[in-house]
Amino acid sequence: MKLKLKVKRGNDSEVRYDTFEVEVQEGMTFLRALQMIKEDVDPTLTFRQFCRAGICGTCAITINGFPKLSCREQVLPYAMMGEEVVLEPLDRFPVIRDLAVDSSQMITEMKKLRTWISGFSGDVRIPPELSKKIERSADCILCLACQSHCPQMLEEDYAGPLYFAKLYRFLEDPRDDEGLMRLKVAVEEGNLYHCLSCNKCNNVCPKEVEPATLIRELMTYTDIDGKGKE
Ligand code: SF4
Ligand code: SF4
Ligand code: FES
Repeated sequence: MKLKLKVKRGNDSEVRYDTFEVEVQEGMTFLRALQMIKEDVDPTLTFRQFCRAGICGTCAITINGFPKLSCREQVLPYAMMGEEVVLEPLDRFPVIRDLAVDSSQMITEMKKLRTWISGFSGDVRIPPELSKKIERSADCILCLACQSHCPQMLEEDYAGPLYFAKLYRFLEDPRDDEGLMRLKVAVEEGNLYHCLSCNKCNNVCPKEVEPATLIRELMTYTDIDGKGKE
């Protein structure tokens, strides 16, 4: 069985689509198909990969209009349809080349919203029920799938589901003492309340983080006084 791929090439100023055919192998993912094209047909084909195990978040691309981890998405169901599958870089990010996007904007936003544990010292016990509560937020692998699929990302100052999902844990994590301050930044600079609650980010997240659900929970924290947790 053959997999027919139509791959967006070039960058934001020069775009074309190239078509390829790959022989489907058992357990084949889109990342493997791209690797085979690069190895056997076109060494200039550019895409990102690292862990090949759905852990690092590096390999997300758009497959038939939906962001997916290419190392996890199996080609077989697509190949069985017999139709051409369109591979494109993630939406809402500048394209460096072919399927590789520039994600440096993510680093800038993460610094602005300070998405790391702050004020941690000494031993802190995290009860199992709390660990469970912040688990989803902590599971984010920064793959950018939600950011690329969120309609509100067209609004320039909307931080996006990735950051709000990350922020959630800091409001509950006892090792952190700046949760409310960060929430204030998220509301005032990241426009948290501009979320449309459309759930598109929930639907595309490969790690079931459910950013939209976490955003709705963030909105229940009303005591945004910037002084940190009690
Ligand atoms: S629910 Fe909010 S954050 Fe998620 S995709 Fe919709 S607008 Fe974006
Ligand atoms: S919340 Fe999900 S989709 Fe968004 S960056 Fe994290 S893992 Fe990816
Ligand atoms: S290569 Fe790491 S998540 Fe796909």
